[in-house]
Amino acid sequence: MNHTPVLYQEALDWLAIRPGGVYVDATLGGAGHTRGILERGGRVVAFDQDPEAIARAKALGLPNLTLVEANFSELLPQLQKLGIGQVDGILADLGVSSFHFDDPQRGFSYQLEGPLDMRMGSGDLTAAEVVNSYSEEEIADILFKYGEEPRARRIARFIVENRPFTSTTQLAEVIRRATGFREAGHPARKSFQALRIYVNDELGALEQLLRSAEAVLRKGGRLVIISFHSLEDRLVKHFLRESAVLQPLTKKPIVPSETEQRENPRARSAKMRVAERVDGGKA
Ligand SMILES: C[S@@+](CC[C@H](N)C(=O)[O-])C[C@H]1O[C@@H](n2cnc3c(N)ncnc32)[C@H](O)[C@@H]1O
Repeated sequence: MNHTPVLYQEALDWLAIRPGGVYVDATLGGAGHTRGILERGGRVVAFDQDPEAIARAKALGLPNLTLVEANFSELLPQLQKLGIGQVDGILADLGVSSFHFDDPQRGFSYQLEGPLDMRMGSGDLTAAEVVNSYSEEEIADILFKYGEEPRARRIARFIVENRPFTSTTQLAEVIRRATGFREAGHPARKSFQALRIYVNDELGALEQLLRSAEAVLRKGGRLVIISFHSLEDRLVKHFLRESAVLQPLTKKPIVPSETEQRENPRARSAKMRVAERVDGGKA
């Protein structure tokens, strides 16, 4: 299945693309947003830590596109390597793409049987290592902190009692046994989200990206961040509120239209925030 870009029109409009300007797409994925920026005349430096995403985009042979296989937490040194000191806009559409979810071998899906991997890039830590070797307390903390899972302690106990785990569906089944099917959605959803965020240090990377944006956006340049859960959205909101040089342009986050939410289930939890680089002295 292809990846349908979320908030496509809105993200491109808010970026206020200037023909010939240089834009960073921090999360290339299926290159949906990148193509949009290119079509509006922008030049794009696109990051993805997933070699498969980079390879797919390379095969498209798009002009005015520079591909960087790296974590966006390395934005500054990577741009420096390319001799780029300032950019006109930065877009990040966070999280995993449909390519990840749909490939059982990547281990992101609790519904498709696969190895417990969950790495987006080339890091060493896998979800299997976390559930098979961390203490019950450490696992509970991860599920609570990154999944906001109220039954984190009970799930962690079940995990420790039933390990070792090798597959996603095996873990999902034990979580289901620990929690039952009472809540809306699959009972393993929050725990899988938590493991993924932890394995990929997603919040650490996001904070680093926001800091880099302060340093590299030209005056008037826009930062557009699309997030998919409250931990990310909260981090972005607070960072922008505190920043001396990034002025939030959206008081409330922008969310997809009802039509988009109906047509693309992944869009349902999306929230977009936008800020503009100012010269200190925020309004
Ligand atoms: C939701 S998808 C982006 C989809 C894209 N906007 C499109 O229209 O096709 C997110 C992508 O960002 C990548 N990614 C997530 N976190 C990253 C990080 N910290 N550094 C680099 N790439 C990251 C993932 O590998 C994934 O391919």
